[in-house]
This record gives sequence, structure tokens and C-alpha cells, in this order.
Amino acid sequence: MSGFSYPILPSGHLLAIEGLEPPHISALLDLAESYALLNRQGKTQRDLLKGRTLINLFFEDSTRTRTSFELAGKRLGADIVNMSVSTSSVNKGETLLDTAATLNAMHTDLLVIRHAQSGAPALLAQKVDAAVINAGDGTHEHPTQALLDALTIRRRKGRLENLIVAICGDVLHSRVARSNIHLLSAMGARVRVVGPPTLMPSECARLGVEVHHDMRAGLDGADVVMMLRLQRERMNSGLVPSPREFFRFYGLDAAKLAHAKPDAIVMHPGPMNRGVEIDSAVADDAARSVIGEQVEMGVAVRMAVLDVLARALRRNA
Ligand code: NCD
Repeated sequence: MSGFSYPILPSGHLLAIEGLEPPHISALLDLAESYALLNRQGKTQRDLLKGRTLINLFFEDSTRTRTSFELAGKRLGADIVNMSVSTSSVNKGETLLDTAATLNAMHTDLLVIRHAQSGAPALLAQKVDAAVINAGDGTHEHPTQALLDALTIRRRKGRLENLIVAICGDVLHSRVARSNIHLLSAMGARVRVVGPPTLMPSECARLGVEVHHDMRAGLDGADVVMMLRLQRERMNSGLVPSPREFFRFYGLDAAKLAHAKPDAIVMHPGPMNRGVEIDSAVADDAARSVIGEQVEMGVAVRMAVLDVLARALRRNA
């Protein structure tokens, strides 16, 4: 887009929110906002990534994230290949680094990777010529999710600064929570984490967030209530009682939401466990829930990230 000052991601990759400065974040959000507008008008920019190859390399399940990277790449004109673990040689014992060598030989420009191991995208970034985008690594980070969440909040509330954001539930296993804590704190929001002690990471104090174990206190006066999925696939022991018990204390229903501000918005990155961390009536309440808008902003944010990283590639070409 013309007349726009493009943010530069210093590493040439997007591996984490931690380490990004507020001006980088704001500029990415501004660019994503303009893509959101184009998307609503049904306009595309198919020459921007023309001739560029984007590989979606997913070692973990995904619906929203993989699809929205694919849509974002297509709207900018890239050639896209989706590789998922079940169809790749990784199942035949190929290491991540062998996979990297293969991708390099294919002259991949943009590599989107999701992996169960924290740090896998950073390792690949050292080994491939492509710009690497972390689409979620273990419990570490999910930077594009935090960007799309921030864009959604900014559109609804007009700002991020001084908002009270309550991030609730399984914080321990959530890369979404970690990326959001870094981004929202950097942008001047007041972040609270709310959940049972067994699902709170010890680094919360270091990250400078307020910790609550009671939903009523945690939600009191909040502008934004962000629910997280109970990530049972990452739990190796009984960290929570039954799902019913979890819902009773930490599931978001109308009664608990009443403690937040009357105009508080409700968010969830998906996929949702309805009746476990969130009541369907709240998730589907069009007056409060912005879950659909989060998905919409996901495409715009990923277009912005691909655009910025591809421009840097062009400079180096
Ligand atoms: C999140 C993820 O994969 O980290 N999902 C997503 O990208 N929308 C959250 C989750 O799996 O609970």
C-alpha cells in the first residue's frame, strides 16, 4: 500500500512478540487494519507476493491458523504449499534440520511453522534462507494470535493503553497467553491472569502481571475478558478436577461476566471447549463476544506480517 511507513522486523523473521518494540507492534497493527478494510471491500493485492513461495509446515493440528495463513498468502498472490506431518517424511524419521535443508533446496521464501516443541521455529530460522513465522511453538509463543487479538481489542476499544485485560484459564500451557502478556504489557495495558494455582506458570510475577485465583476478583472492572482453552493434550497429570468442576469455578458464564465492565468484550482464540471454559450463551452473545472478529482479523494480521517480511526479502534479493 502506498503512503504507508512499513515496520521492519529486525530479525527478518517473526518468532516471538517478546523483543518487539511498541513502534513495531503499532505499525504492524496499522498495516493489518488497512488490510482488514481491503478484505471487507473484497479487494486483493495479488501482485505483492507474486512469484514467492510460502510453505505452511504444521506439525500440530490447526484449523484457523493454517487456513488464515493460506488465505492471507493467496490474497497477496503467493504460491502456497501446505505440509502437514501426516503426509511428510517426518513420520519416516526425518529430523527437523533435514526438513529445513529440503525446504531450502526448494527456494522457499516464507515458512510458516507450528510445532509442539518450544523453540523449533527459532532453530529452523537459523538453518533456512526463508523468513520464518512462528504459528505456535509448544507453550512458548504464538505471535500472530497476539497481534490479531490486539487488533480486535483496538478496533473495539479504540486503544490498548490502560485497558484492564483478564486472561483466564489454562495460562500454564498457553502460548497464546504468553504472547498476549508480552504484547499487551508492552503497549501499556494492565494485564491480569486468572486461574487455578495448578495452571499458573511461575514466571507470572517476573512478567509483571497481576495473578488472581478467583474469577470474580480477576474480572472485576475488566475491559476485556480473554478465555483460554483447557489444553488437556499438554497435561501429563491431573492438574484440574473434572471439566464440570473446572467450569463451576473458572468457566465464563453470564454471572461471572457480570463482574467485568458492562461493556467488556469476550474473546477466545479457539478452538473452544463449550461448557468447560466458556458457556455457549456467552460465546454466542453478539453483544459481548468478538470471537468471530478475531478470526477475521487473523487473516488481516497475517497479510500484514507476510507483506512486511516479503519486503525485507526483496531488499536482500
Ligand atoms: C491456539 C493455539 O494453537 O495455540 N489456537 C489457535 O491458534 N487459534 C489456542 C489453542 O489451541 O487453544
